Amino acid sequence: MIRRVNHIAIAVPDLELASESYRRLGVEVSEPQELPEHGVRVSFLEFDNLKLELVEALGDASPIQRFMEKNPGGGMHHVCFEVEALDTVATTLRESGMRVLGSGETKIGAHGNPVIFVHPADLFGVLTEFEEVAEAR
Ligand code: CO
Repeated sequence: MIRRVNHIAIAVPDLELASESYRRLGVEVSEPQELPEHGVRVSFLEFDNLKLELVEALGDASPIQRFMEKNPGGGMHHVCFEVEALDTVATTLRESGMRVLGSGETKIGAHGNPVIFVHPADLFGVLTEFEEVAEAR
């Protein structure tokens, strides 16, 4: 059902500062992208095995605002699993009693693919994203 870990997202208070910290470690960091419809600015760090996303709040109604209030210095925000068929996963999650966030409908995520999120309390304190990716890379 789960193909691989697609990305791990780290919420940061200052995207430029965070990018600079990783560049100092020799990591290539993409230019920041504004995603107003998701209320975030993001930069990507590509590794052989997965991506890291640095996520900064954008606007007052950002979905990561509450997280940043609790974790002003930043923190691990979510892990994303890549799956083949999101509908199947959503059904399994619901049958397992896990809470799919929002309306429960799949949404188009930051990478243009359908995603759903499961409430962190249902997966050991970690907000978990499932992203449908059409083909294995
Ligand atoms: Co994500």
